[in-house]
Amino acid sequence: MNMKNDFQEVLLNREDLKEIVRRIGRDIKERYCGKEITLVVPLTGAMVFAADLMRELYPVCDVRLICMQISSYGENACSSGEIKVLLDAPIEKVAGKKIIIVEDIVDTGATLNWLVNHLLEKGAEEVETCVLVDKAAARKIPVVLDYVGRQIPNEFVVGYGLDYAGKYRHVPKIAILKKEVYEK
Ligand code: XMP
Ligand code: MG
Repeated sequence: MNMKNDFQEVLLNREDLKEIVRRIGRDIKERYCGKEITLVVPLTGAMVFAADLMRELYPVCDVRLICMQISSYGENACSSGEIKVLLDAPIEKVAGKKIIIVEDIVDTGATLNWLVNHLLEKGAEEVETCVLVDKAAARKIPVVLDYVGRQIPNEFVVGYGLDYAGKYRHVPKIAILKKEVYEK
């Protein structure tokens, strides 16, 4: 078995990812120099990006981390649009805080839009959004993106945290998955 055969095209390799993380880190450091910032990371996909990004903010920002688990996708390669909260953010860690949601990917926008509103309802002072890859062509719900890694085509991608049915999260690049892999 060679996993590489499952990929149609590599969109971002290790170097691209490093460069993106560095650039977004620089932008966040400029804005939050010497300040406290809380990163909200929706598990599981965003954990790889968030782990790299948060270390980029040292020692300039005072970083706090909240993991949430919400699910909108199940095992399909297309969004169901339904949000389930499996692990919520504690209100005392959200209320009055400046927050950046760190997401792996924005597709329809449903998940991110829901998350922004959810955190504002819990009393966050400010909620910014940071996404590694943006499938703008798939957007159904408009959502403001404050930090964006790269625009990508409207294709199903895996790697660097992103999965298909739990697979490929450890791939150190982002690649388009061959349709025959998920249309089998
Ligand atoms: P929405 O439609 O709510 O989708 O913006 C965001 C969530 O859907 C998942 N997603 C993907 N996961 N490859 C993946 O592995 C993809 O191409 C893809 N597109 C959407 C992802 O979990 C994200 O949080
Ligand atoms: Mg997923």
